[in-house]
Amino acid sequence: MKKDLLSICDLDRGEVDRLIEQALLMKQGRRENSLSGMALALLFEKPSLRTKVSFDLAMHQMGGHAVYLAPDEVGMGRREPVSDVARVLSRYFDGIVARTFYHGTLSTLAEYSSVPVINALSDLEHPCQALSDLLTIYEKKSKLSGLTVAFVGDGNNVANSLFLAATLTGMNFRIASPSGYEIGQGILKRGREFAASSGSQIELADAPEEAVKGADVVYTDVWISMGQEAEVDRRREIFSGYRVEEKLLDLAAADVLFMHPLPAHHGEEISDNLLEDSRSVVFDQAENRLHLQKSLLARVLLR
Ligand code: NVA
Repeated sequence: MKKDLLSICDLDRGEVDRLIEQALLMKQGRRENSLSGMALALLFEKPSLRTKVSFDLAMHQMGGHAVYLAPDEVGMGRREPVSDVARVLSRYFDGIVARTFYHGTLSTLAEYSSVPVINALSDLEHPCQALSDLLTIYEKKSKLSGLTVAFVGDGNNVANSLFLAATLTGMNFRIASPSGYEIGQGILKRGREFAASSGSQIELADAPEEAVKGADVVYTDVWISMGQEAEVDRRREIFSGYRVEEKLLDLAAADVLFMHPLPAHHGEEISDNLLEDSRSVVFDQAENRLHLQKSLLARVLLR
């Protein structure tokens, strides 16, 4: 059976551990699991820097080839049905990496494609980001289980996948979001199920200060995700109390890691110089996208 990765829920704890282990070997320069002769479609409805470049380079460095299809080039669901795009790409490629506005588009792609489909970000989840974030946390802390991750801001795609990844791997998860912008009920339910077997504690905090207190990792993301541009003014107002600044990090553990998936809006969800703070690991996070992508491609493409 093909191995799609549409959600963190498509993985179990053992698989996550193996992906991290393999990514660490890849990072040390091991080039096994060659993808020589294989081809990957990078089908993007939204812009991308890290995800696009890391998948493209991962294929190249493992001996395979990637073809990038830019936003508006294909016109999925407009120029031709998603089901047809899936069946056509399946005839050319060994796998499809897709970034879509709607998660339903990914589900349709996966349903009609005979090759694996990887979620490169949808409105619901960003699993590749969360997996490489686990890699970064593991590298820095030598463990996952028992650590506390505090997310400040929008209960969005990045928060959803991080929440699922944390509860799957036994990390405690706290989140402070404005009312109406919390993690959705469906994702919460899955995370609670994971937590019941992993031992994670989940806390839905009222204030950022409460979430961050003593945390090992403080994480935030943009207030306005791709596709929400019409809500800029309203969101800036609603999220104004959720900026992560140096003094908020001071409430966390002394050796806290500050994380952000990028792109960052300096002076908006983070203070102007936060990325220069010694507690920030955001560029390690960005680099680790490449190593994790390699490990993921080996898992998904080599059957
Ligand atoms: N939440 C952001 C993440 C970008 C990597 C977005 O969807 O635009």
